[in-house]
Amino acid sequence: MRPIQIPTRLRSHSIKKPIEIIDRKPEENANGKSDLQPLIEMQDIYKVYKTNAGEFTALKGVSARFFPGQFVSIIGKSGSGKSTLLNMITGIDRPTSGKILIGETYLQDLTESEFSEWRGRNLGIVFQFFQLLPMLTLKENTILPMDFCNMYTPPERDIRAEELLDLVGLHDFKDKLPAAVSGGQEQCAAIARALANDPPIIVADEPTGNLDSKTADLVLQLIDKLVKQGKTVLVVTHDEAVAQRASRTLVICDGELVDEDISRILPHISHRSMLRLSHEALEIRKEPGENLFFESNELPGLLLVVDGQVEMRSDDGKRQASYESGSVLPGGFIKKNLEARRNFRISNRSSARMKYISTDNLQNIITSSRSFQDYIQKLEAGFDFELSGSREVKLKK
Ligand SMILES: Nc1ncnc2c1ncn2[C@@H]1O[C@H](COP(=O)(O)OP(=O)(O)OP(=O)(O)O)[C@@H](O)[C@H]1O
Ligand SMILES: [Mg+2]
Repeated sequence: MRPIQIPTRLRSHSIKKPIEIIDRKPEENANGKSDLQPLIEMQDIYKVYKTNAGEFTALKGVSARFFPGQFVSIIGKSGSGKSTLLNMITGIDRPTSGKILIGETYLQDLTESEFSEWRGRNLGIVFQFFQLLPMLTLKENTILPMDFCNMYTPPERDIRAEELLDLVGLHDFKDKLPAAVSGGQEQCAAIARALANDPPIIVADEPTGNLDSKTADLVLQLIDKLVKQGKTVLVVTHDEAVAQRASRTLVICDGELVDEDISRILPHISHRSMLRLSHEALEIRKEPGENLFFESNELPGLLLVVDGQVEMRSDDGKRQASYESGSVLPGGFIKKNLEARRNFRISNRSSARMKYISTDNLQNIITSSRSFQDYIQKLEAGFDFELSGSREVKLKK
């Protein structure tokens, strides 16, 4: 497949743009955070829909920060609130409460017409079902956002639309109506339209959901290019291939975001179990060399090593095993080792951040989820196997 080159002249024109693109990826720490200012900040967003059957809360206190240059995928089951969340950012729908700050603009302060203009300059939106205007050609559809926001001169709009359609492989189809091209081509045209005003933020709801794998791959390559240019890309997807290319994946379940450490470390458990663990987990931080448990401490049901490294040592100080970021230690394993006079401590190299779930809370989650119960049983069985050996082992998960 032809590699996508974004013409340089498409990158630079940008007038009256309130948000600056930062042309580099932020230095992220293991938590997906960066020292940069977030570009998008959602603060405790609730969305309540009024339906005939009563009120329905589609978003329940969503808070999230997205940084310049990040490629974030948002996954979740059908009805979990993914589109609702994106719609809050694009202003297609407004939150019932909570605030959204993008750049220096609080979205709730904008009137509808201010919002439309702001959106036209700053957001490129790709919908699941394309939403091209049926009576306009692909080229006219691509010119539309530039006309609407009065970006570029009319001759420039024309050239730019052609270049963008060329970029997504539609040069020969520019004068066709949406009904005369395939679904994949419509989606590519919708992406060209989203890029029309060179927006710093691209928001896409299932952009590959209705595409064959070849066209989906073209779209993914294009997204990669945009991210490399420093654009911030938020994509709702069911597609593993999309999620795997993202620098961060958020899981939404029943209108709530799952703790990102938990979804990263335990990606294979059900979203509902992830969410329950998110509600119950406590965070602990320890300094290099600190001991983790003393006999008087209540032992955890489950310990997740988020950052840093935990070591298990015998009572003569010899290191028996080390557990790196991403490791999951079951409480039974910790208890048996403490009873065998081994102890757990943070490696001397760096401090550590961990998530801790109490035995009672873990038991409640196990009782309510068969698949989580199976996961824990397998985890414990693996550690029992490890206990029966005496050599140093390095385990992840
Ligand atoms: N306008 C509306 N009025 C009432 N309920 C709504 C409305 N829009 C969405 N909902 C409900 O809010 C919940 C979240 O919907 P949303 O469209 O965000 O889900 P989704 O995660 O995008 O699902 P899908 O993967 O099917 O696109 C669903 O239960 C949906 O029925
Ligand atoms: Mg949706």
